[in-house]
Amino acid sequence: MIETIQKYRQDFNSRVSSISAPEPLKQLRIDFLGKKGCVQALMKNLRQATSEEKQQQGKLINNFKQYVENQLKSKEEELGKSANRISQKTETFDTTLPGRGKTSGTLHPITQVMEEIKAIFLGLGFQVEEGPEIETDYYNFEALNIPKDHPARDMQDTFYIEGGAVLRTHTSPVQIHVMENSQPPLRIIAPGKVYRCDSDVSHTPMFHQIEGLMVERNVSFSHLKGIMNIFLQEVFGKDTQVRFRPSFFPFTCPSAEVDIQCVICSGKGCRVCSQTGWVEILGAGMVDPAVFKSVGYDPEKWAGFAFGLGIERISMLKYGINDIRLFFENDLRFLKQF
Ligand code: PHE
Repeated sequence: MIETIQKYRQDFNSRVSSISAPEPLKQLRIDFLGKKGCVQALMKNLRQATSEEKQQQGKLINNFKQYVENQLKSKEEELGKSANRISQKTETFDTTLPGRGKTSGTLHPITQVMEEIKAIFLGLGFQVEEGPEIETDYYNFEALNIPKDHPARDMQDTFYIEGGAVLRTHTSPVQIHVMENSQPPLRIIAPGKVYRCDSDVSHTPMFHQIEGLMVERNVSFSHLKGIMNIFLQEVFGKDTQVRFRPSFFPFTCPSAEVDIQCVICSGKGCRVCSQTGWVEILGAGMVDPAVFKSVGYDPEKWAGFAFGLGIERISMLKYGINDIRLFFENDLRFLKQF
């Protein structure tokens, strides 16, 4: 046994001293300390020994193993150092190279359009208000003159929550909260998320609206038209044509849907405007007296107009985007363009 170890040791020493690269060093470790290596072979031989021999020879084997490990370790360190020296000598550092610039994020296009619209209305004397996204049936429907079983409830594919609450289907309930908590005259806009059970190229289950409400003694449909004109020409350009089409909403009377001349084809007719030359952009109307009654305003004394618009729709027309889902996929290649 002693001779075998001595032979292994000589063998190891001569190999380790001739090594100058990491690969052969790895092999040397396998040959001596691996499963089928010399140290394991010595251990196997020990099985036949008497217990006294085991004690003696075991010690020798362990000593040898320790020796091999130490040698391998210092050789590894030596090789590492010289590798460093070589790279320090051969690598150059070009101080004229430009640094790696930091990229900064940008606001989401929806946020940008939202901010732009808010700024326009702030300039017209409106204040920003917010309301809850989880609503009761009363605020989302009843107080807005949409009684139970009214067919208008089918216009909006409502997400119902256990216990009778709903995810608000529009920002109009904020009108009710604001009027309940303050006295006229008032001018507010209410931006926020709304939810409808709907999904295709122009609908997502969550989208953004801005609600507007103005209540004064003598406010008329002309004021509504004037404000909508100013607003739409700010967003889409001074030459934007605007048209009002009679429509129906339970909480306004008279009601209108407002169209702008198609920004894609300039009114010539295309796929986006279904060849009509016009695209619908928002809903609006004079506040229905029933709504004033539900918040305790005297409809004989006060008049008001309200409007509601979808931010995604406006953003799509403004930037020529043909699939609403792009806004929510968070693909940086898309988002970086704004
Ligand atoms: N709440 C309506 C909708 O989501 C829009 C609207 C708001 C219409 C205010 C008239 C007045 O479709």
